[in-house]
Amino acid sequence: MGLFLGIDIGTSGTKAIVVDESGVVRGTGSVEYPLYTPKPNWAEQDPEDWWKGTVGATRKAIEAAGVDGNDIAGIGFSGQMHGAVLLDSADKVLRPAILWCDQRTAAECDEITERIGARRLLELTYNKALAGFTAPKIVWVRNHEPDIYKNIRKVLLPKDYIRLRMTGEYATEVSDASGTLLFDVKNRTWSQEMLNDLEIPRDWMPDCYESPVVSGKVTASAAAELGVRPGVPVVGGGGDNAAGAVGNGIVRSGLTWVTVGTSGVVFAHMDKVDLDEEGRLHTFCHAVPGKWHVMGVTLSAGGSLQWFRNVLCQPERSVAELIGKDVYELITAEAATAPMLSEGLCFLPYLTGERTPYPDANARGVFFGLSLRHTKAHMARAILEGVAFSLSDCLDLVKLLIPNVNEIRASGGGARSEFWRQILADVFDVKMTTTNATEGPAYGAALLAAVGVGHYDSVESACDQCVRTVSQLDPIKANVKRYAEGKVLYRSLYPALKPSFDMAAGLV
Ligand code: XUL
Repeated sequence: MGLFLGIDIGTSGTKAIVVDESGVVRGTGSVEYPLYTPKPNWAEQDPEDWWKGTVGATRKAIEAAGVDGNDIAGIGFSGQMHGAVLLDSADKVLRPAILWCDQRTAAECDEITERIGARRLLELTYNKALAGFTAPKIVWVRNHEPDIYKNIRKVLLPKDYIRLRMTGEYATEVSDASGTLLFDVKNRTWSQEMLNDLEIPRDWMPDCYESPVVSGKVTASAAAELGVRPGVPVVGGGGDNAAGAVGNGIVRSGLTWVTVGTSGVVFAHMDKVDLDEEGRLHTFCHAVPGKWHVMGVTLSAGGSLQWFRNVLCQPERSVAELIGKDVYELITAEAATAPMLSEGLCFLPYLTGERTPYPDANARGVFFGLSLRHTKAHMARAILEGVAFSLSDCLDLVKLLIPNVNEIRASGGGARSEFWRQILADVFDVKMTTTNATEGPAYGAALLAAVGVGHYDSVESACDQCVRTVSQLDPIKANVKRYAEGKVLYRSLYPALKPSFDMAAGLV
């Protein structure tokens, strides 16, 4: 039997899934690991944790599937994007990986923009310099850690470091490479001009493939650790957004997707490359060969609710443990007891700065309008609504390029809540659907592996055979009207607070 393994190197943990020849998920496994914030604005992880997570999650998934690891016929990766893994000439990791949500590089973004020119940067990469992207991190290490910089011989993205451990190859693929700011997104190749201008050697970057292309084979020693056979083909895979889009069937024009994970993303497929002229959206290569996508990112979407859970919901966590329920179910049920628009309480979810539409590392989370009447339920609801408003900021920009958005597929931990999905439908004024593919990026990675080894003719045909919608929520007209009013308040707050955010940053 041919089985496919999808491995997602996420921010909170690694997830592995085993998918069979008919696209059915046979087993899943996951392993969590820590995220370190040694200084304000910093976010780092130890790549060794990703490898241990990969081994653990893979073994768990194979065991849960009740299959023989020797039957795995192809492996695909998905991963948190943008992270910089810096290796020396012996492939030793030189410092902890600097992650997508790290905001230390505001000055380097300015330096890059000045050096290249804002217009030219958009022409070369189809994106602007944002703190989360990879190139500013490399420049930061040059500026602040010259002793480490001088030993760099390779720069890999998180999932590509795991590929190196698994296959011994330095390789990446177009969707993840797009988020480095060193990639010519239009022509799907490294930008020699960007590399020259930033004085980053070309041979620091791995070879780049289309996402379903086999770029290596599992080595004997990795096979022994993972419990699969040596020589299993490994395909490029995708950045977690592109791979997740494949997992949700977002592979044709007209299809749009929202994911509410730690970050929140509004993602739309494009047959032809296009961009927001002000660079407020990211334009990246899709994991579908020869196609692109555009997306806007809310950095702390599910992450805002997770913060609320961690800091303010100890009682809910104890109850959830006692009755064996997911704590988020209790929190969203509590949120549902508060009235719409939370009686004037408005939440800005900029806990880790923001990307879209405000690329601002200094922006911070805000509860605006607290009064004596407000309870924890109001605060929980305001978070769900604030995240929806932020995502609708992304959607409005996407609609400038792709006006006819008639349906949005939703996935990610946050979108499991029907209550939150209804808020999204009402704020977006678009029907929200979900698909049978609940494993998102890992599922997309497994489908890319199945395409790579020839089980399906194309990514599109894999999705046609495996992904279908299973639920639909229509916007409720009365709510749409109220939320449109709430959005006006929400949108007035960032511009008013911008000087105060900058002032606060100076105090930290
Ligand atoms: C995308 C981004 C995030 C990470 C999360 O640009 O930064 O979605 O990929 O894993």
